[in-house]
Amino acid sequence: MGLGVVGGGVAKVLREKKEAIAEQAGCPLILRKALVRDLSKPRSTQIAADILVTDAYEILTEPEVDIVVEVIGGENPAYEYIKQAVKNRKFVITANKEVMAKHGTELLALAEEHGVDIFYEASVGGGIPLISPLNHDLVASSVSTIYAIINGTTNYILSRMSAEGITFSLALQRAQELGYAEPDPAKDIEGVDAAYKLAILATIAFHSTVRPEDVYHEGITRLTERDFRYAKELGYAIKLLAIAKDIDNSLEVRVHPVFIPEDILLAKIEGVYNAVQLEGDLVGKVLFYGEGAGASPTSSAIVADIINAAHKINSGVEARHKARIFQTKKIKPMAEIETRYYFRMSIVDSPGVLAQIAKILGDNSISIASVIQKGTDDNTQTAEIVIMTHPAQEKAIQRALVEMEGQPVIRQISNFVRVEE
Ligand SMILES: NC(=O)c1ccc[n+]([C@@H]2O[C@H](COP(=O)([O-])OP(=O)(O)OC[C@H]3O[C@@H](n4cnc5c(N)ncnc54)[C@H](OP(=O)(O)O)[C@@H]3O)[C@@H](O)[C@H]2O)c1
Repeated sequence: MGLGVVGGGVAKVLREKKEAIAEQAGCPLILRKALVRDLSKPRSTQIAADILVTDAYEILTEPEVDIVVEVIGGENPAYEYIKQAVKNRKFVITANKEVMAKHGTELLALAEEHGVDIFYEASVGGGIPLISPLNHDLVASSVSTIYAIINGTTNYILSRMSAEGITFSLALQRAQELGYAEPDPAKDIEGVDAAYKLAILATIAFHSTVRPEDVYHEGITRLTERDFRYAKELGYAIKLLAIAKDIDNSLEVRVHPVFIPEDILLAKIEGVYNAVQLEGDLVGKVLFYGEGAGASPTSSAIVADIINAAHKINSGVEARHKARIFQTKKIKPMAEIETRYYFRMSIVDSPGVLAQIAKILGDNSISIASVIQKGTDDNTQTAEIVIMTHPAQEKAIQRALVEMEGQPVIRQISNFVRVEE
């Protein structure tokens, strides 16, 4: 279902690697039908015109079809089609992060009820194996943290802003020219796409359902060249990180820009590449890195899932391992997270102003780690200062921000960014 970037790639691989795939699956795989919206649209992949259909039910009710690959995208009708396929006892392979993040737990339970399975490796990190390692190779470890760069568009934009000192809008424009960003980039730049992916990963890693609305998300649009300049001066890189932590059975799940030390591996992930770092009690730190999107890497994950499904069907293996989700962990409210913070603000350049700021922070139990003050602007009598704090609670920071905004000596709080060490 779907013959666009990914569906076209999958069809091409199924044709070009037909023999090898048949060997691995234990039976030949035949592409019976392909769902599209527009039959007359030129296709990048050679495909027999007679297999194209525009009615999904020609696939969903076809007894010859054992495996349905959903690569339409979006919540509906994809969600309905997946549900129907499962009810008709078809294995489903999907690359759909939105559907799996919002309805994954329900769909997997439905699949179990009907003796089939849903594979969704391509929904997070394109060709990078993440879901299968979490479901299989890492199950003996209890995962405590996930730090992930799982949106190539934003990582590309941030990499350009950092390397070239350009503005967010110019970096976004470059990303769009190169096809790395959609004409409507909102879901990427606002962190929504990464939040879907984090909900999927956290659900599997912590064996507890994490819904997209549980994930706090903030995008990258407030970052400026000045933030990158200060970050470098302080020894940090700025990344949009998807962070999940299990602290005493309470889950932190959040996506937002962060300062991370420039010498750690995640700080060195450039351009459209993705990387996911997990930490487990037995395994320690593990890093997955690779191409997080594109027809070829995504097809790699999908075709592998197809081969797995075919192998299961062919060998009559009982559909799936049970109890992927066997507990309910509390989601920690964002107000309760504790981290370090970077503030950049424009203040009136006169004696005593820093003391006023320090008092507001101190009254909110926020302790200052360092302050940088750059040249003053004689015309406006203002100076820009950057403050790095020691670990503090988010709610204290939000309170202090409101108090600082009410001070006449603080002209503007230009930005604040969380810091992960
Ligand atoms: N692109 C990537 O690199 C990438 C990476 C990982 C995951 N994914 C996921 O893979 C999925 C597909 O992405 P894509 O980039 O391949 O999208 P795409 O290029 O826009 O292709 C979508 C395909 O689905 C068909 N389609 C859409 N709505 C339909 C409907 N209501 N009924 C029937 N057919 C419909 C379209 O038909 P027409 O061709 O006739 O318009 C098109 O063939 C999404 O869930 C996406 O998040 C994509």
